[in-house]
Amino acid sequence: MEPGTLDVSSTRSEFPALHQSVAGSPLTYLDNSATTQRPQSVLDAVNAFYSHDNANVHRGDHQLSQRATEAYENARKTLAAWLNATPQEVVFTKGCTEALNLVAASWGGANLRPGDTVLVSTMEHHSNIVPWQQIAGHTGATVEPIPVSDSIELDLEALKARLAKGDVRAVAVKAVCNVGGTINPVAEVARLAHAHGAVVVVDAAQALAHEQVDVQAWDADFVALTAHKAYGPMGIGALYGKSSLLAAMPPYQTGGGMVRGVSFEKTNFADPPERFEAGTPNVAGAIGFGEAVRFLQKVGVENAARHETCLARRAEELLEEVPGLKVYGKAKHKAGIVSFTLDAAHPHDVGTVLNEYGVAVRTGHHCCMPLMKRLGIAATTRASFACYNNDEDVERLVRAVHKAKELFS
Ligand code: ALA
Repeated sequence: MEPGTLDVSSTRSEFPALHQSVAGSPLTYLDNSATTQRPQSVLDAVNAFYSHDNANVHRGDHQLSQRATEAYENARKTLAAWLNATPQEVVFTKGCTEALNLVAASWGGANLRPGDTVLVSTMEHHSNIVPWQQIAGHTGATVEPIPVSDSIELDLEALKARLAKGDVRAVAVKAVCNVGGTINPVAEVARLAHAHGAVVVVDAAQALAHEQVDVQAWDADFVALTAHKAYGPMGIGALYGKSSLLAAMPPYQTGGGMVRGVSFEKTNFADPPERFEAGTPNVAGAIGFGEAVRFLQKVGVENAARHETCLARRAEELLEEVPGLKVYGKAKHKAGIVSFTLDAAHPHDVGTVLNEYGVAVRTGHHCCMPLMKRLGIAATTRASFACYNNDEDVERLVRAVHKAKELFS
């Protein structure tokens, strides 16, 4: 495929779940920020592992175990290369949430002290707020919000001013906002934080499928990733950590697979990444994650982002013609996400009507209650786009929202 082009209809044909009817209408799947669908290649890779190579990893001399171990470690190499990291810097986790809990518990537990502050943006998902609150409770550190504007953009001046006080040890930000689509200036946040000796923890859940995540270009210390929002399986994600930081961190969970030696006198832990992968890992998930990365390589993540942003902007323009509809998230740099309220109805009611027309969106607070409070609302309806969405999806969404408006007026 030529750079800059995306063959949407061929891409779409790779996703079996898209080809079905819901409530008598063709499925219009616009809940991609919650989870994307999976291409046949990912489904096949998971199925092939269980059908042919199924065995535990790092624990057997037999051929199946060797094949499973090789496939698992190859998936790590594929993901690491995609992120511009080394395999030793990539820890497989259950998802972003576990990756962020790992950093907060392990790095935070070892490094935070009373009087230290962790700055967390007001637009963060609960998974990049609550783990910090928990570890702050144990260490005596404090968690403070970085303000955001009405358009859901980070207040970088406030961040600079807060960093200048000298007590900030960590800055936690998301790369892309799951509510309003804001693309945050992660590299700039890292530059500012590093100038004051703070580490930067990036929640890249919404970024992986929609921009080239390059941990070196960001200069982020930790990056949390999940596969299922990037065409991979559920229940698998990863933590990228700079090797010097990971090497100094204590284990997050303990058990088999993460030790060098155990006796009742003393246990020695393995080096990263094994130190942070206690127990039997999600081998099929990791293999599926590697296959999802190959899918992203094939599609071209910049092509996908351009296409999705174009669809989302068109949807936003058309939705704003609906009387009483308000779009939240007007950042200058935005991914393919449109969040809105309709004066006449609660978002859950809007979502229910949309479902009657086969349109799948997410409604609610999107696990971002502090952001909802900042915006003065309880919930939104959110349409989120992926590389397989097309113009008809936009048209069906807009038609269904008009129907909801009529119904509730
Ligand atoms: N965090 C996911 C979302 O925004 C589940 O929908």
